[in-house]
Amino acid sequence: MKVARTIKEVREQVTEWKKQGLTVGLVPTMGYLHEGHASLVDKAVSMCDRVVASDFVNPTQFGPNEDLESYPRDFEHDCRLLEEHGCDMVFYPSVDEMYPDGGGKTDTYVEILDDMPKQLCGKTRPIHFRGVCTVVAKLFNIVLPDKAFFGQKDAQQLAIIKRMVRDMSYGIEIVGCPIVREEDGLAKSSRNTYLNEEERKAALVLSKAVFAGKKMVQDGERSADKLVEAMKEIISKEPMAKIDYVSAVSGRDMSTLKVLEGEILVAMAVYIGKTRLIDNFMMEVEK
Ligand code: PAF
Repeated sequence: MKVARTIKEVREQVTEWKKQGLTVGLVPTMGYLHEGHASLVDKAVSMCDRVVASDFVNPTQFGPNEDLESYPRDFEHDCRLLEEHGCDMVFYPSVDEMYPDGGGKTDTYVEILDDMPKQLCGKTRPIHFRGVCTVVAKLFNIVLPDKAFFGQKDAQQLAIIKRMVRDMSYGIEIVGCPIVREEDGLAKSSRNTYLNEEERKAALVLSKAVFAGKKMVQDGERSADKLVEAMKEIISKEPMAKIDYVSAVSGRDMSTLKVLEGEILVAMAVYIGKTRLIDNFMMEVEK
């Protein structure tokens, strides 16, 4: 697997592949890779001739009091996992390579101005999705992929990227991949590593609420308020859990739902100790 640290190296390699008529898939990541990321690489390998993963902790998507400095990093481990799963090139840029003004700052952003990025995670992370869109747009411009792969665990991110691709006329197919869970149900996340033993057990309350919520909708519940209340009730039984939000929204534009119909997204962010975890389920509910 090739390790590219500069934009120039990526461009040269991708140009070479494109000359040979090969299709290119991109898996954007912030590193500290786990089986969730591996499943994105597997999907990309199955759909594209060549696969590029990016491994970059993006400063512009972290707010001032968030975990940018402490975000876990292990590039050697990442390389092993990527190589095992058939990735052809990893793009591992420095902050200055991505943001040439220095200090991880930029004056040029890509931002969706409607309500979509202000809902759910956007309520407490107001600049987060502007940073995500900006770095993903840059990665699209650098790699020029045919397809790009994102996890459904970050369902709001996935919907926002799809919207950005439509609005900015990127000719890139966005492929959403299912949440990968630990055996006991906890959704895989690089942030799980922050949890101590007791918190790790408490964190199970997220998937417990997700599974119970999903069953309620499958069993016919159509009131969004009742569903959200029932899920909050489950979470509040865990003393270490502090709810940031539990919401039932439209999977397309993140608008709040009263009636559970159409493409629904039921998403949550919950603090377990100091660690903020997210989980969700999506469903197509017949009208
Ligand atoms: O999902 C992530 O890990 C990040 O938000 C992404 C898409 C790699 C952009 O930094």
